[in-house]
Amino acid sequence: MNILIIGSGGREHAFAWKLNQSSIIGNLFVAPGNAGTASIAKNLAIDILDFQAVKKAVLQHQINLVLVGPEIPLVAGIHDFFLADDEIKHIAVIGPQQYAAQLEGSKEFAKEFMVRHQIPTAAYQSFTVEQLQNGYDFLETLKPPYVLKADGLAAGKGVVILNDLQEAKDELKSMLHDQKFGDASRKVVIEEFLKGIEMSSFVLTDGKNYVTLPNAKDYKRIGEADTGLNTGGMGAISPVSFANDDFLTKVEERVIKRTIEGLKKDNIPFVGFIFFGLINVDGNPMVIEYNVRMGDPETEVVIPRIKSDFLELLIAASQQKLDQVNIEIDNRAATTVMLVSGGYPETYQNGKIISGIENVKDSIVFHAGTKNQDHKILTNGGRVLAVTSYGNDFNEALKTSYKNISKIQFEGMYYRKDIGFDL
Ligand code: AMP
Ligand code: GLY
Repeated sequence: MNILIIGSGGREHAFAWKLNQSSIIGNLFVAPGNAGTASIAKNLAIDILDFQAVKKAVLQHQINLVLVGPEIPLVAGIHDFFLADDEIKHIAVIGPQQYAAQLEGSKEFAKEFMVRHQIPTAAYQSFTVEQLQNGYDFLETLKPPYVLKADGLAAGKGVVILNDLQEAKDELKSMLHDQKFGDASRKVVIEEFLKGIEMSSFVLTDGKNYVTLPNAKDYKRIGEADTGLNTGGMGAISPVSFANDDFLTKVEERVIKRTIEGLKKDNIPFVGFIFFGLINVDGNPMVIEYNVRMGDPETEVVIPRIKSDFLELLIAASQQKLDQVNIEIDNRAATTVMLVSGGYPETYQNGKIISGIENVKDSIVFHAGTKNQDHKILTNGGRVLAVTSYGNDFNEALKTSYKNISKIQFEGMYYRKDIGFDL
């Protein structure tokens, strides 16, 4: 089996690392990949939104299965593009078609889906610019804090939470009227604020059956104690210690099963990952968001805890045979700590020389934003490396990650020293 992974972050390096261990892997390609994926697979320098270029690469390298990492090509219809083309429609694509990708690509679509299938989520209403006054009226009926969400993809920045009613109204106007998030805020979902601790669950589904992957919690804020700006994620742990059997049973019964049943009832095909962003409200899971892909950096702790052959799972998903496979999970905890460029998530510089990776022992270094140049590894993004370790519990795993991080250097390197602090 020849495989093409689409994407270039830590998630894609973790996928490549795992697929590389499969007993049935043939040639492994990553487009466009990074310096980490280049060490275990062949990187292809193609624009992942240029689907004709993807097709050309797939035919040239006799790819049998395409694993799509990020949401943008899914929301843009990469899977539909394959299905519509006689030359490549037989090639398995892991990642939903455009219609189903709206579970992530449109907050309103996701909310309507959840309400239709009795999946617990915050009460909400959505508004367009013509309904601005109705939006103000709705805000007045709510208690602070106020949660405003741009309907479309906004690179993780589209959710604004405000304590002051007037500020919330001004924000609503800026989203709808001044198109603060461009097209993504042509519609805005306003929802009830939920208080609780967050975590994420993941499944791989073929649209009818699913396997449950290890759960995880990520740390999104740049600063320690969850302060400062939002980032793509500064670290993650798996499993989540507060998610006991009782809570996880509720997640399965009320969220996962109803979602898969809902897809079936609505006749929505879905081959790929569903990432359930959850919040624990007094012991009950509520869905904050769906993603139609794996998380990053969650993948860097979820994938290392899967013992089964990952490629066999992907093939089973593509053949609607996930009911015939078992997934084996490593009992150990896994943690990852993200090393980021100084200045991230605001402006930062690329091209800093990274040294010391070769001295790391007992951790896995997944590359997030790196590139090779003149036999050196250079930083090439805000999030640069994810240092993953195992342990009997997450504290032990974290110790190993932090010990190894002290061996890695690049100018401006920053990381959070308190991953897992709230557990
Ligand atoms: P989302 O992009 O929908 O995941 O939202 C980003 C972040 O906003 C989440 O990770 C939560 O921390 C927060 N958030 C979103 N919706 C709510 C809500 N209804 N109540 C409280 N916090 C929320
Ligand atoms: N770490 C959050 C995400 O991948 O969306």
